[in-house]
Amino acid sequence: MILVTGGAGFIGANFVLDWLAFHDEPVINLDALTYAGNLDNLGSIWGDPRHLFVKGSIADCDLVEDLLRSHRPRAIINFAAESHVDRSIHGPEEFIQTNIVGTFRLLEAVRGFLALQDAAHQESFRFLHVSTDEVYGSLAPAEAAFSEHRKYEPNSPYSASKAASDHLVRAYHHTYGLPVLTTNCSNNYGPYHFPEKLIPLVIHNALAGKQIPIYGDGMQVRDWLFVKDHCSAIRRVLESGKVGETYNVGGRNELTNQSVVNTLCEILDELRPLPHGASYKAQISFVRDRPGHDRRYAIDAAKIERELDWRPNETFDTGIRKTVEWYLANQAWVENVTSGSYRQWIDCQYQ
Ligand code: NAD
Ligand code: DAU
Repeated sequence: MILVTGGAGFIGANFVLDWLAFHDEPVINLDALTYAGNLDNLGSIWGDPRHLFVKGSIADCDLVEDLLRSHRPRAIINFAAESHVDRSIHGPEEFIQTNIVGTFRLLEAVRGFLALQDAAHQESFRFLHVSTDEVYGSLAPAEAAFSEHRKYEPNSPYSASKAASDHLVRAYHHTYGLPVLTTNCSNNYGPYHFPEKLIPLVIHNALAGKQIPIYGDGMQVRDWLFVKDHCSAIRRVLESGKVGETYNVGGRNELTNQSVVNTLCEILDELRPLPHGASYKAQISFVRDRPGHDRRYAIDAAKIERELDWRPNETFDTGIRKTVEWYLANQAWVENVTSGSYRQWIDCQYQ
């Protein structure tokens, strides 16, 4: 039995779906179902006896302690977080509460639980913390990609809160001997990506005939990884990673935002052509830049490749096409998650 937190969100849901496709081992899925958590993501495993969904917060010590005592999981994979940089700029409070206080409370619950376990369980247990490359800050154009030795220089409330959680995880290993692993991954994309993030937002707005907003000059660089490849890396780190170590995860796909948006428009032009040969590119609009916008991220994945023999399966070309096809085939999912509180966020951002 493993415990996944945040397993109704984008990466967590992909992870749970993949886990149950590859393993018989059951999963407890603890998710607070914020705006970003959606049970529709888990529709294909709903009713599967290997999947126990629990609505609740990682910050709820009583609930987490009860789950740990009752199910005695052999591992926790912590995806639960507030994840959107723009939201963290508009309102950092929830990022502090979930990403820092929530992770702290989860670590405390695990510490209490492990103290009561036998030596074999203490030895085999793992706490895998899922983090981001954004903790390293921003790279200059010619600078080497982020290795695990890069110092932390977070620039947004989101990345600062993730950096704090990484430090807590590290401290619980050094101080209390908690058997932790941390992964720092680059930008993910793929199915179930909430349409506030660049790639699903572009697809959504293009199809809806709306403006496609590019922040600033569009020359910021992100290093894109198909979400299923991130999930395979996490499984590999969970099974073979060395306790106390961190692993950077990325697919060596550095691209400017402008070129990602152009590619999406070109795939949509092909798969869902507009009348009279028009292009979705006509909807592109350069808008006010994100405050403190990091210029470039790039991951040096040599350690996980060398030590754990992990490689991504998708190139950006194959992964992005699959992603556009998924969104075209799942417009009902998009409609569902873009109603309600999402509307309010978009309305307040663009008024
Ligand atoms: P997401 O916003 O799509 O999902 C987050 C999930 O966590 C949601 O289901 C939400 O309901 C849940 N959640 C929020 N607060 C909670 C709480 N207090 N208790 C329990 N559940 C709670 O995020 P994502 O993009 O899937 O990211 C998952 C993790 O991976 C995050 O920790 C993020 O920092 C990290 N990460 C994301 C990316 C990326 O490109 N998306 C890249 C690297 C790392
Ligand atoms: O690098 C990993 C991180 O990637 C994760 O830790 C975060 O959880 C995840 O949200 C993502 O952060 P980014 O800020 O890089 O992703 P986002 O999709 O919000 O933006 C990607 C780039 O596109 C960024 O440079 C900002 C830009 N952008 C974004 C949006 C939403 C635009 O130009 N226009 C937009 O409308």
